[in-house]
Order: sequence, then C-alpha cells, then structure tokens
Amino acid sequence: MIDDWFDVIRLPISMKQFLGLPQNPAYKYEYLGTYALLSPRPKCYHAVLDLKPVDVPEPLDARGPILVRPLRDGDWEHFPALFSAAFDRVQPFAALDEDRSLEASRHCLDKTRTGGDGPLVPSACFVAVTREDDKVVGAALVTLQNVPEDDESDPWAAGRVHPHLTWIFVAPMRIRHGIGSALLAATVGGLIGLGHARLVSTFLLGNESSTLWHWRNGFRLLSYDGSPRRMRKRADRRDVGSANVRTELSEEGLP
Ligand SMILES: CC(C)(COP(=O)(O)OP(=O)(O)OC[C@H]1O[C@@H](n2cnc3c(N)ncnc32)[C@H](O)[C@@H]1OP(=O)(O)O)[C@@H](O)C(=O)NCCC(=O)NCCS
Repeated sequence: MIDDWFDVIRLPISMKQFLGLPQNPAYKYEYLGTYALLSPRPKCYHAVLDLKPVDVPEPLDARGPILVRPLRDGDWEHFPALFSAAFDRVQPFAALDEDRSLEASRHCLDKTRTGGDGPLVPSACFVAVTREDDKVVGAALVTLQNVPEDDESDPWAAGRVHPHLTWIFVAPMRIRHGIGSALLAATVGGLIGLGHARLVSTFLLGNESSTLWHWRNGFRLLSYDGSPRRMRKRADRRDVGSANVRTELSEEGLP
C-alpha cells in the first residue's frame, strides 16, 4: 500500500541526541557509531465494524457548514493536495518533502481509483464539501479487498472479499468537528444498501488520530498478523490438519 514511500533515514547525530530522539513505531532505531539509522518497519493493524444504520448529521459545522455527498468523477482531481495535507504528520508522508508527498498522494489515489486496491465501491464512497462552494474538504474511499486472513475466530473467513475503508482523510483545518465520522456514517449507509454486514479497515501503528478515530467509531481491533499467539494457533491448526491427513492415509493402508 504505502510501503514504497518509506525511506531509510540516516541522521548524523551524537549518541546523546539519539537517546533523546522521539520514536515512531513505523521505524526501527539503531545507532551506528556516528549516525542514527531509522529503518522502516511499518506495522498495519486491521479492524472491523459491524454495520448498523447511523444518522448522517447534515449540515455539519466545521469552521462553516459542511455537507456529505456521494463521490463524483470530478472530485478526484482535488484529492492529491487534500490527501497530502491530511497525511502531513502521518508516516511515511511526514518524512517526505512537499513534492514527493504530493507524488506519493497521487500514486496512492491513482491506485485506488484504477482498482489497484480492489474494485472501488462507488455507492460507498463519499466526500465532505463546503455548503457555500462545494469545495472538497474530506473523503472516504471504499474498495473490495480480499483481506489475507486465516484465523477462524476472526469475523471473516479466508479468501472472502470485504468492503475495505481504503482511505479516509479530512482537511487539517477541519478535523475534530465530526467530518470523518459523518463520512463513515454515509459509507455505512451505502454498504448496508448493498447488503454488506461488515466494513474492514487498516491503520498504521503510530497513527494515533486514526487509531483513536477507529476506536471512537466502534471498530473492533483484530489480531495482529504477526502476533505470536496467532502464529501458534495457525501452526496448531496446520498440525491438526496434517495429523488428519496422516490418519486418512493410514486408514487407506498407506504409510
Ligand atoms: C482520522 C481522520 C479522518 C479523522 O477525521 P475527523 O473529522 O477529525 O474525525 P471526527 O471529528 O469524526 O473524530 C471522531 C473521534 O475520533 C477521535 N479522533 C479523531 N482525531 C483525533 C486526534 N487527532 N486526536 C485524538 N482523537 C482523535 C476522537 O475520539 C474523536 O471524537 P471526539 O472529538 O469526541 O474526541 C482525520 O484525523 C485525518 O484525516 N487524519 C489523517 C489521515 C488519516 O490518518 N486517515 C486514516 C487512515 S486512512
């Protein structure tokens, strides 16, 4: 998804400065004699929302009246600048200069628009606009994704395709006024209308606003893909599976 945009960061600083460096969980921090080396190690977490109808508050007041309306083709051209500004403090965009951040934003959005993140679900994609001049100040983009999942205790089965909240972003000047939640409410309505029961989402460890936003909006955190407990369960299942195969084979008189 965004992995391509993570760079290795080399900082010529002293050991003392290194020890006082604020840390972001998307990087591994090492001190190598004369410089700090920050190597990307992004960890993505999945969360799921069981869909229930929610009222979309309209119009919202977020430094002026805001409406939520369905995505239109013409909205895409306004997204890169907005996206780049919204993710300005989120890795990997935060570590990029302005031009590369815009390039990364275009790249991510083009991928979503052209089906690289799975088919877009147009009736679940919404934008937030100013009531006066229809200026886009936020968006929620949903695609259908085959989430790699093999834990039976998790709420979706292996190999099934689910609506995925691929991007949600709000103009920095308008955050914390309910726009993100209003976009989600509209998305939920669209998905219920299509007969979906769940919405999956993904966030990067270290993106606190996203983490808190998901939590506040009722998403349930799923087990981390690399969690030792989960890997053990997976291995146990594999053992049971191969034991069953062995039993079947011996019943057939084979070794
Ligand atoms: C995440 C994001 C979409 C939230 O949009 P928003 O319009 O600010 O969200 P809301 O106003 O609906 O926030 C609802 C709740 O989320 C939590 N929240 C959102 N942003 C927060 C922040 N920066 N710090 C703490 N809590 C936050 C709060 O609990 C808030 O409820 P409260 O206001 O009653 O405390 C927005 O911050 C954003 O664009 N972030 C950058 C892009 C991003 O990381 N997107 C998510 C991954 S795709």
